[in-house]
Amino acid sequence: MGKGFYISKPVGIVSIILCAGALATIIALSVVYSEEKAKNNNQVSPTDGGTTSKPPVTTLAPSNEPWDKYRLPKNLVPDHYNLTLWPRLTPDLTTGLYIFTGESTVEFETTEETDLILIHSSKLNYTILENGHLARLTSVNSGVRVPLIKVSWLQSVTQYLVLQLDGKLMTGHRYHLYTKFTGELADDLGGFYRSEYMEDGVKKVVATTQMQPTDARKAFPCFDEPAMKAIFYITLIHDRGTVALSNGEEKGYPVTIDNQHVQKTVFEPTEKMSTYLLAFIVSDFDFINNTIDGVWIRIFARKPAIAAGQGEYALNKTGPILKFFEKYYNSSYPLPKSDQIALPDFNAGAMENWGLITYRETALLYDKEFSSNSNKQRIATIIAHELAHMWFGNLVTLRWWNDLWLNEGFASYVEYLGAHEAEPDWNVKDLIVLGDVHRVFAVDALASSHPLSSKEEDIQKPAQISELFDAISYSKGASVLRMLSDFLTEEVFTMGLRTYLSEFAFGNAVYTDLWKHLQMCLCTRISRTLRPTVNIIFPQAVDANGTELPDTVHNIMNTWVLQMGFPVVTIDTKTGVVSQKHFLLDPDSEVTAPSPFNYEWIVPIKWMKTGAVQSPYWLRGKSATNDAMKALGTEWVLANLNVVGYYRVNYDEENWGGITGLLILFFKLIPVINRAQLVDDAFNLARAKIISTVLALNTTKYLDKEREYMPWESALNNLDFFYLMFDRSEVYGPMQDYLRKQVTPLFNYYKTLTENWSKVPDGHMDQYNQVNAISLACRTGLEECQNLAKTWFKQWMDTNNNQIHPNLRSTVYCNAIAASGANEWEFAWSQFKNATIATEADKLRSALACTKQPWLLNRSYTLDPKMIRKQDATSTIVYIANNVIGQSLAWDFVRARWSYIFTQYGGGSFSFSNLINGVTKRFSTEFELQQLKQFKEDNAEVGFGSGTLAVDQSIERTTANIKWIAENKQNVLNWFRDETKPVF
Ligand SMILES: *[C@@H]1O[C@H](CO)[C@@H](O)[C@H](O)[C@H]1NC(C)=O
Ligand SMILES: *[C@@H]1O[C@H](CO)[C@@H](O)[C@H](O)[C@H]1NC(C)=O
Ligand SMILES: [Zn+2]
Repeated sequence: MGKGFYISKPVGIVSIILCAGALATIIALSVVYSEEKAKNNNQVSPTDGGTTSKPPVTTLAPSNEPWDKYRLPKNLVPDHYNLTLWPRLTPDLTTGLYIFTGESTVEFETTEETDLILIHSSKLNYTILENGHLARLTSVNSGVRVPLIKVSWLQSVTQYLVLQLDGKLMTGHRYHLYTKFTGELADDLGGFYRSEYMEDGVKKVVATTQMQPTDARKAFPCFDEPAMKAIFYITLIHDRGTVALSNGEEKGYPVTIDNQHVQKTVFEPTEKMSTYLLAFIVSDFDFINNTIDGVWIRIFARKPAIAAGQGEYALNKTGPILKFFEKYYNSSYPLPKSDQIALPDFNAGAMENWGLITYRETALLYDKEFSSNSNKQRIATIIAHELAHMWFGNLVTLRWWNDLWLNEGFASYVEYLGAHEAEPDWNVKDLIVLGDVHRVFAVDALASSHPLSSKEEDIQKPAQISELFDAISYSKGASVLRMLSDFLTEEVFTMGLRTYLSEFAFGNAVYTDLWKHLQMCLCTRISRTLRPTVNIIFPQAVDANGTELPDTVHNIMNTWVLQMGFPVVTIDTKTGVVSQKHFLLDPDSEVTAPSPFNYEWIVPIKWMKTGAVQSPYWLRGKSATNDAMKALGTEWVLANLNVVGYYRVNYDEENWGGITGLLILFFKLIPVINRAQLVDDAFNLARAKIISTVLALNTTKYLDKEREYMPWESALNNLDFFYLMFDRSEVYGPMQDYLRKQVTPLFNYYKTLTENWSKVPDGHMDQYNQVNAISLACRTGLEECQNLAKTWFKQWMDTNNNQIHPNLRSTVYCNAIAASGANEWEFAWSQFKNATIATEADKLRSALACTKQPWLLNRSYTLDPKMIRKQDATSTIVYIANNVIGQSLAWDFVRARWSYIFTQYGGGSFSFSNLINGVTKRFSTEFELQQLKQFKEDNAEVGFGSGTLAVDQSIERTTANIKWIAENKQNVLNWFRDETKPVF
């Protein structure tokens, strides 16, 4: 799956600017809440067990019955399914529900005799068949007696259809299981669900799916585990004039069923695949297409979006990215077609259904007039991410969800390679450092983090599986795979990858299988080239530089995969001693999780001395001495070049002094990625009390000369923390003065570069940094900037013609709304309501949260529950929480309605951790800490699902913040005051 909303490109500091307007949305949400609640009270909610011949066993107590276990027994193996589904895009006249009906026959083989059939099924109602049961069983092998069904029922907790037989299914024999069922086409974003939108004043309904991880069972009864691969013969029944899509190529013809003149679309059988990669969609969307080397590529979207050319960018980039991955994997695209479709309601960023990839509109549709360069980058990288999964994940699938990190980490790494192919001028590969490495450092530095790899037996329930879709799996996975590829060399990495894919094609693997293949390639390559005498049994081989690897791939990687966190490597340039220590943002936090390696890693260190790159060094064990790392006189050492290693670096005080001095005098001697690293490492080491906060602040002194995006972005990310901690204190004023002083030259630089804001800078990174320049200048109160934003916004209001460049819209809208009153807010609100382009609506939605006028909340016209889509609810609450005033409202909202939010978004939602982290990130007082603990206690019974860890992380973070403020406030205040003192 594509990353959820946590990956959306930096909107800069836009979201931090304090604002109250979007409180309106809180109210809007409360209205949704009360309406929904009323609705739920008036009807029996559809749950399992509608028609059963035995009352469902509802006991929650652990029991040893096979149907009380969450994992399927391994005695039945599906071969293929014949599935027909008929979604109704108008509500049922009697119940008012949107429903679908279906029929399925699955052919399975018995690998071990049994008198029990368990097959996943959730929220489906079954027709009782002529045998009096929920299913019919027949034999494929003639002359074999088919046992009769003794009893059949639905086991709702573990989500099974259970059939007990009066005799055994025979080993090696094949059977057919037939069922007929009905399900609700709800708007719950999971399983077979519906999405709604308006077109020319008419409500349109789309039936679509999101199966990953465990919702295929909501669409039809199936063996819903990734290793239970099968072939799927899919048929969809739908209204004439609508388009039906699925994984295979479609062929449709009109039929009449029950006097209804409908269309029957039959799809080519799929390849052997996992259930979570299935997709079924019925819509009246339009498409554009092309063909590349025999692969048919189509982009589907709402008709007006296609007519406006919004699919063109995706269509143009898909071919080259697909070709890139064919080369990269040395394996041709496994399917005849590649469809990609943009949906108005979609929970994640995108989903890699095999042959039919689904996206949020903002992740696929590009509009020259409305989309920023960051929107464009998001589209290119998400397409690359999903296409990468067509092989890694779909062709070869991890056996169980505990290895999800390898699937998502891998796609999150190579998405940059694919996007680079699509946009070679962007230098997009560098951005993994900000987008993944630095981002996940923040989470992985907590004592409540968790290792990449989980034990299979610890991941059983759907909520446990959902919880794995987090920053650790995606971003840490990507970071350590990038490190691995770097020390093995890309050549060895891709060689191993290719043999891995070819061995396990159409099957399943575990993460150590990849290590095995990498090791094999490493050794073959070494024996072929560098060392003709080395043989295959040589355990570890050497890296590209001929440096011996300290251990096997398996053993090196285990230190990164099986223990949480990462090290801070300290280099003492006086003595040459290099040492490592588990980096914890709060040094007083208690690490209770045991580690098989005692929190020591095998660390590859690329480094330079006084500007010259040195041969890589491997640190193994707590500490070691490397004489080469001693620095004399004016020499200086810089380690973790280009941040390819997943660790932070600390130095002795003198080397730090040397580097910060160098930043001020000759910053260009330090590679740009490492300038971003120095700032990020310094600020985080300071938070962990390893170096002083003053030293960290010193790394920002050179910024008045810096023009590059990455160091600025890194600085702003870290200063965000200062804003969160100090925007209610007397530190705020001097901090603003200092930052205004630092950013003014950047602002003026862009003013000149763009010829007084009339042009767009050429470079992709320059475009990003222009946004930073404007955001920070306006935020710190640079009058020229604020006037600029207000003037542009006013021009838009006056002429109803928006001349603001898409790159700048988020920040200009936000700053204009923050600096003005009701008229501007109201204008933005009406623009939001009427926006037909998702990317524009998103910019407005976040900007509405920037007003400083709380009274706008009472405007009644904002109480429209239809305004915020479910997919956007959590991010909207988080926008509101970014506001000092909105903060407590958002928190109250979440606290008061947790169990409602939880049940509404629980199933398919992966954004609970974002929600909880988002509403609590400013927490820094005892009072807030108590509230948080109370929240945890009060809702212990309801649970936190995929947000369980986030609650503990928030408690830990708040505790650390309280201490940090107590210890640093005065120093920080003094430092800002000193830096802004007039000089005589
Ligand atoms: C499913 O459909 C295919 C193609 O029509 C057919 O060959 C196969 O026998 C069917 N299998 C079952 C289980 O009905
Ligand atoms: C399933 O059955 C339950 C209980 O009878 C009912 O409330 C629900 O509406 C049914 N769902 C569908 C989709 O028919
Ligand atoms: Zn993915």
